[in-house]
Amino acid sequence: EEGDATAGATIFKKCAICHIVDTDKNKVGPSLNGLFGRKAGTHPDFAYSAGMKAAGDGGLIWDETTLRDYLHNPKVKVKGTKMAFVGLKDDHDITDLMAYLKQYSK
Ligand code: HEM
Repeated sequence: EEGDATAGATIFKKCAICHIVDTDKNKVGPSLNGLFGRKAGTHPDFAYSAGMKAAGDGGLIWDETTLRDYLHNPKVKVKGTKMAFVGLKDDHDITDLMAYLKQYSK
């Protein structure tokens, strides 16, 4: 299923309190620019939790599958993550959000 990037831009408002995607700038959370294909916990100049760094060292790469799992339930996918976000319950919303984020991963 192809996501709707325009609908995804609206969903991203839930993330934008803490994340920027169109530039490399970090906020409360790391920049999500260039996220797809990136190893977890490796964006420059961001102070990640030990849990996120361990997940990356353990081989976690952000792709459609791993990002979906993380967004469903961040604290289950990455033990010890400091991302204070309950997650997104709706799979369709996640698909649309990923279509939006992918525009900034080229
Ligand atoms: C980490 C996505 C909402 C704060 C991350 C990471 C992703 C992500 C993919 C890992 C990035 C990496 O490994 O470089 C999202 C998306 C959101 C969202 C798509 C909305 C659906 C939020 C919100 C907050 C937040 C609302 C703040 C209340 C953080 C923090 C981290 C993080 C602090 C670092 C976690 C750690 O080091 O354990 N987020 N996030 N995020 N996010 Fe979010």
